[in-house]
Amino acid sequence: MCGIFAYAGKKDCTDVIIKGLKSLEYRGYDSWGVALKTGTGITLEKNVGKVSQVESLESVNARVGIGHTRWATHGNVSVLNSHPHTDSSKRVYVVHNGIIENIAELKKYIPGDLFYSETDTEIIPKLIAHFMAEMDFPEAVKTVAALLKGNFAFVSIDRDSDYLIAARNGSPIVAAKSGGEFFISSDLQSLIAYTKKAFFINDGEMVIYQLDKQSLVFYDFIEKREVHKTAQSYDLQSGDIEKGNYKHFMLKEIFEQPVRLENTYLNYVDDFDIAFSEMLKPTIVQKINRIVIIACGTSWHAGLVSEYWLESLVNIPVEVEYASEFRYRNPVLTENTLIIAISQSGETADTIAGIKESRKFGIPILSICNVSGSTITRLSDATVFTKAGPEIGVASTKAFTTQLEVLFLLALYLAQQRGKLRHKDIINYLKNLKDIPEKIERVLSKTDQISTIMESHYAVTNALFLGRGVNYPIALEGALKLKEISYIHAEGYPAAEMKHGPIALIDRNMPTFFICIRDQSYEKVLSNIQEVKARDGIVIAVANDNDERITTLADHVIFIPETIVELSPFLTVIPLQMLAYYIADKRGCDIDKPRNLAKSVTVE
Ligand code: AGP
Repeated sequence: MCGIFAYAGKKDCTDVIIKGLKSLEYRGYDSWGVALKTGTGITLEKNVGKVSQVESLESVNARVGIGHTRWATHGNVSVLNSHPHTDSSKRVYVVHNGIIENIAELKKYIPGDLFYSETDTEIIPKLIAHFMAEMDFPEAVKTVAALLKGNFAFVSIDRDSDYLIAARNGSPIVAAKSGGEFFISSDLQSLIAYTKKAFFINDGEMVIYQLDKQSLVFYDFIEKREVHKTAQSYDLQSGDIEKGNYKHFMLKEIFEQPVRLENTYLNYVDDFDIAFSEMLKPTIVQKINRIVIIACGTSWHAGLVSEYWLESLVNIPVEVEYASEFRYRNPVLTENTLIIAISQSGETADTIAGIKESRKFGIPILSICNVSGSTITRLSDATVFTKAGPEIGVASTKAFTTQLEVLFLLALYLAQQRGKLRHKDIINYLKNLKDIPEKIERVLSKTDQISTIMESHYAVTNALFLGRGVNYPIALEGALKLKEISYIHAEGYPAAEMKHGPIALIDRNMPTFFICIRDQSYEKVLSNIQEVKARDGIVIAVANDNDERITTLADHVIFIPETIVELSPFLTVIPLQMLAYYIADKRGCDIDKPRNLAKSVTVE
């Protein structure tokens, strides 16, 4: 995905746009560019590399401008392929986030036109300029937007007028107007400094702003009619998007987990009453006989953990699907199926597509999301929001644990509504859940121990993560955290599966991370640890406080407080997040913006 930021107003917009792009850099950081409309034309500046390395640009006294920070999809990382893109007469400039799928069809409108880049985006300004031979700039943009197929959000400016026009279909953009200034951005966070109200643009819609008249029009380019919108308030604070005293956003977000879990708990639980009836009506709850969870990456791991909770507490069959597979599999969904879509960003293209596939069956869709106003929340029948606050680090941490909390509360709510749990059982579970933040604090205090382990193993090239039961998904999550920020190859497996292949990998250079808590499989995991040690392997174990047996077997042990087994994932994941962070930091990796990754994958 990419970041788009645009401005029209009374100020010189050069620094405003650069600042906006810097706050969007988590969305992509291969290259960046700006197109600034001055009194004599449009100034274009594009570069490979991170916009955060730009101190400031020379002011050109521009009052209208567009900017882009890129995550390469079509075309490699180069200045030529970076945005903004323009037509051959250099009249129309465009920045774009998404993928245009009908390039060949569109090129028929401009036969013989030479393309200077490898991108799909370049077709947009060329087509707009083409149609401007017979219509004005806004009408040409409407025409082109209706012709595009695929996921897109683009913003366009014209050398000969003072319009700023954006259109979206599948990729996010928001607009905001404040005191004679107008902003368009890929996310809300970049607008906090300017306004606390924004216009949410839906798929198939455009926003047309003209600076001199300060006229603002919203237009549906599919239905070909104007639409009315009012600005919505949003509750982000500027402190949410600053690192403060932390070296990286990821470290800040790891340490924020206790307070974010408390906020999420307090948002939904009052005096042991779980307030989910608004999002999931009791009438629907009684009818459900199957749950299908769709998600990607870390959110998929949260879904896997919840499968254990939902099946054991609610006694409903649950399937957890990679959204990218689900959407093409022609799934068989019956009328009493509940779809749960889990997404931190609410913009993951595969999860969006999974929801759209599910909508064909007319069944209830509940999303669990961290970003209000995001696409997934607007495609779902209801959303339970995690109260993690903006998650800037590409590697998801606080969003994951707050997803777990919401999913556990959902399991308790469903169990209570369907008479599977008595109120006193609910109270007991909630009391244990309420204790989790303080227990996480105790794990977070073990940074010295984590650093010692890091010093011994930061240079490895491979690692294995093993867990059982409700901690098997945590083994997967630990592997994902390590690989995505330190670039060490890491795999997660059910511990019992080790004998069916991975044990062949064990040697003195391969650390194996075991989750070995006192649950029903404790003895079995101890045996697995012995099997690794018998082959000269290195064992790092996450175990319960005061477990003496594990210290006789493992090379390193990170102890975590006891809790009920169901809630152990909240605690076992913390040392794995911290280990991934400190190993990646020691390796000098770009932790908040790992190579090739983006915070939200808005392309398929
Ligand atoms: C997690 O650390 C990764 N950044 C990635 O797997 C992420 O969880 C995945 O892309 C899903 O994103 P979403 O939750 O915003 O849908």
